[in-house]
Amino acid sequence: MTSRYTEHPLEAARALLEYIRLIIGERVFLPATRSIMTSVDQSPAHEHIEISSSPTMQEQSHKIQLVLPRHFFPSDCIFDKQNDYHTAQSLEELYDRIHTCDKCPLGATRTNFVFGAGSATADIVLIGEAPGADEDRQGEPFVGRAGQLLTKILSSIGLERSDVFICNVLKCRPPNNRTPEPSEIEQCKPYLYKQLELIGAPFHVALGLTAAETLLGRKLKMSSVRGKWFDFYGARLIVTYHPAALLRNPELKRDVWEDVKKLRQAYDEYLRSGTLPEPNELT
Ligand code: URA
Repeated sequence: MTSRYTEHPLEAARALLEYIRLIIGERVFLPATRSIMTSVDQSPAHEHIEISSSPTMQEQSHKIQLVLPRHFFPSDCIFDKQNDYHTAQSLEELYDRIHTCDKCPLGATRTNFVFGAGSATADIVLIGEAPGADEDRQGEPFVGRAGQLLTKILSSIGLERSDVFICNVLKCRPPNNRTPEPSEIEQCKPYLYKQLELIGAPFHVALGLTAAETLLGRKLKMSSVRGKWFDFYGARLIVTYHPAALLRNPELKRDVWEDVKKLRQAYDEYLRSGTLPEPNELT
């Protein structure tokens, strides 16, 4: 298996410029992206969500069977379609079953249910906290300022948004972008786990502590988990800062650059040899 990132010097040069632009701002000229993709799916996406089933790296991907405990998928009423989400066989089916969810109060205040977007067979899934105003309006994750920065971060390691899957812990916007309540996370978490199970990606990126604590199941300190690999039910998870934190404190960009370089290296190794990085103990 080869990676388009390491194979093409022009892409490597572009990635370096992307990184410099990430660090110092917008005034760095970037050459046009060279077309090195073999097959990009331009077919219409799902009616409500953008899920490409024919992503750039799909041919290279090796799926993982995440071993998620069944109690992650509570089913309190077998006659309620919303509680039937755990038998969904595809992301489209899952979306159909959950996008009208009103289990928590955020269902009543949302404009759009923000399911997630990207490749249904991605090898890398990025998980944020919750939709903001732009995401609520457009029904897509990470489309505001933080999202634009995330797109640049991905680009700096040779990835496009369509190569990965991007979603959030919460699918609905908390009013005034407040931090999600534990009860909201509890209600929404099974949807996230089901998404991750269906995608079966070998690599997961927790963007910020809300995602990290939800996925690793405990209270954490960013300083002790950032940039480290953890086991995630047989797959691997790396924690980094949320892009919104970088907007508030640009100094953190260097750390994120280190983390995404680590992700890129581990992914290249995985494509080459099928091996995942050694996980750290969660202390
Ligand atoms: N912040 C998030 O955590 N998710 C989004 O989708 C947008 C901003």
